[in-house]
Order: sequence, then structure tokens, then C-alpha cells
Amino acid sequence: MSRDIKIGLCGLGSIGKAAARLLIDHRSGFSLVGAITKAPEDIGHTLGEVVGSSRASDIVVGSELDELLALQPDIVVYATGSFLKETADDVIACTSAGVNVVSPCEELAFPFLRDADASARIDAAARSRGVTVLGTGVNPGFIFDTFLIAASGCSWDVESITGRRVVDVAGFGQNIHRRLGIGYTPEEFEAGHRQGTIAGHVGFPESVQLVAERLGLTLDTPVKEVFDPFVAETPVHTTYGDLAAGLTEGFVQRASGTVNGAEMIAFELVLHLRPAEAGMEASDSFTIHGSHPVSVTLRPGMDAIPATSAQLVNSIPGVLNAAAGLKTVKDLPSASAWTSLERTMWR
Ligand SMILES: NC(=O)c1ccc[n+]([C@@H]2O[C@H](COP(=O)([O-])OP(=O)(O)OC[C@H]3O[C@@H](n4cnc5c(N)ncnc54)[C@H](OP(=O)(O)O)[C@@H]3O)[C@@H](O)[C@H]2O)c1
Repeated sequence: MSRDIKIGLCGLGSIGKAAARLLIDHRSGFSLVGAITKAPEDIGHTLGEVVGSSRASDIVVGSELDELLALQPDIVVYATGSFLKETADDVIACTSAGVNVVSPCEELAFPFLRDADASARIDAAARSRGVTVLGTGVNPGFIFDTFLIAASGCSWDVESITGRRVVDVAGFGQNIHRRLGIGYTPEEFEAGHRQGTIAGHVGFPESVQLVAERLGLTLDTPVKEVFDPFVAETPVHTTYGDLAAGLTEGFVQRASGTVNGAEMIAFELVLHLRPAEAGMEASDSFTIHGSHPVSVTLRPGMDAIPATSAQLVNSIPGVLNAAAGLKTVKDLPSASAWTSLERTMWR
């Protein structure tokens, strides 16, 4: 017995477009029924044209979630924003319409501590319609949670866990640099961080919490984060012009959780416009310290856009097969590549 699974796309930024290209060009056994975004330059054009797919897609990109939900997709790949306050209502609209959701929204990766109320509302709406919601991606979603949790299967005792990701962000656009905290004076950086307009990387507390819960560790306090800029000593060439010396060219962000007063989980993320010149290699690594340490290093580190879009697309079978409710990557089988959704789902 098989049926055609219908997929919808909401949000066609770098991640939504990559997920669309992956689905259209490399996957089969489902129907892509609709796509919406808020970017005016994309609305009204065909999806194939908007995402640069090698295969034509005659879907016309719309703008309204209601219109997408009226097409009755089984699942929506929801790639719009990082924060629950901007995504929770739409996620609830999807689940209330009986539609599953997979999303790279960082706060959705482990939303229970940050916003218990929104989490409860999403969970209740999903359960009431028998559908599932999953927040995933590469960070959070894979490197410092799913992957680390899987690697911990080779550990004996776990004394502590450390992780470090260094990302070369030279290829990101100016808007993303500004959002992250690049291109500011140290004073502007400090003020923006205090006021919440410079968020840096979102999602470290989610990964720390996912690991702690899956390993049965109770953290003493909420995850602590610190955030320090790197200030350029010489001008930095970017795709949108030169950044003057004296402006931020990156930052290091640290997140940690303690158990019984001792640091148990500590992650560090460096985002930098020229990490090699600063003596840092773009890579992802973590070590689970103990009697038999487990150390993993990925060189080069995961490329965020292809890896995140792949995690979203590759999570679709797991989400469609999961029990109803708001789930996290620690609750579901890890995503794996598939070719035909029809064959993957009905085996
Ligand atoms: N978990 C992870 O590992 C991971 C990795 C990468 C990215 N992310 C997160 O995933 C999200 C998407 O990433 P991105 O790089 O694709 O971001 P992006 O380039 O900013 O794209 C988001 C797109 O969604 C559109 N949009 C905003 N609100 C919408 C709504 N209510 N309905 C429909 N479309 C809407 C935006 O339109 P406008 O441009 O007109 O606003 C934009 O085109 C971001 O929050 C990012 O931080 C997570």
C-alpha cells in the first residue's frame, strides 16, 4: 500500500532554496505541492526559476501560509527564522491543519527551556492532529548533538565533553554578517549584544541541553553563554567592499553547562572572515573525555547550507513515521539520505 506524500516549502532563503533544489534535483517518490516566501523578488515566479533547479518546476511561488496549507501537504519544510517568537504561530497553524513540520529554527531544536508555553502549545496542537514537529539542522541538529550523542555510544564513563567549530564566514552576505555581529566597532558590538540586536549564533544552549538530557545529566543552572569579538587589525576584503581595521571581523561564542559545580559540557564556536590568517582551521571537533576518550574532527567542517538543507530533507521520513507531538533530534532516529520517499516510507 502506498500513497503520494505531499511536501510544501515555507521560506525560500538560502536554506529553503537549497532544500528545494535537493528535493527537485535529487529525490523522488513524493509531490512538491507548493512554496511560499516573503521575499518580493521571488513571489510570482516559478519555483525552479527561484531556486535555480536544473529541473523545471511549474509551482508558482506564493506568499501566504493559508494558501500553502490549503494544498494539504503532509509536511512543510519551514525555513524562515531562528526564534520561537517569530515561528511558533506558523508552526501551530501547520500542525492545527494536520501538517507535519521540519524546521531549521534554532530555538525549535530544544524549545522547552526557552519558551515552555510556546512548546506546550506546539506540542498540544501537533498531538491533537496526530502530526510531528522537529527542529533540526547542522548546528543545532547534528554536530554537537545528534553526531555527538551517537559518538557517545562508544564511551564508557563521561567525565566531560568539549567541542569546537570554526567557520569561515567570508562567503556569507552582508545582512547575515550584520545579524551575526560582524562589521561593528567594539562598542557597537557590545551594545548590540546587550540589546539583543546582535544575536551571534543561536542554538548552543539547545545542543548542550539535548546532549545533557540524552546522557541523563542534570545541569546545575541554565546554559551559560559568553560572546567575544575579534577586531580586525588590518582592512578585510569582503564581497560587499572593505571592512576597515578596528571593526569586528568575527567572534568567539562559548556555551557551557555544569553538573555538581563542575563544567561538564563546553562548546566553542568561532565565526571569522579570515580564520586561516588568524591561525585557525575551519573544522568541527569534539571530545568525550573519560577512561576511553572519543574524539571526532571533521576537516573541513560541515558546510552549513548544504548540510542543514540535507538534514531537513533527510529527516522527512523520520518525522512522518514518528509519534505525534513536538520532538527533538534526541527522540527520533538520526536522519539518513534517501532517494525515493515512497520506497523509504513504505518498506
Ligand atoms: N539549525 C541549523 O543548523 C541552521 C543552519 C542554517 C540556518 N539556520 C536557520 O534557518 C533559518 C533559515 O535560514 P536562511 O539562511 O534560509 O535564512 P534567510 O536567508 O533569512 O531566509 C529566510 C526566508 O524566509 C522568508 N520568510 C520570513 N518569514 C516568512 C514567513 N512568515 N513565511 C514565509 N517566508 C518567510 C524570508 O523572506 P524575507 O527575506 O523577505 O524576510 C527569507 O526569504 C534561519 O533562521 C537560520 O538562522 C539554522
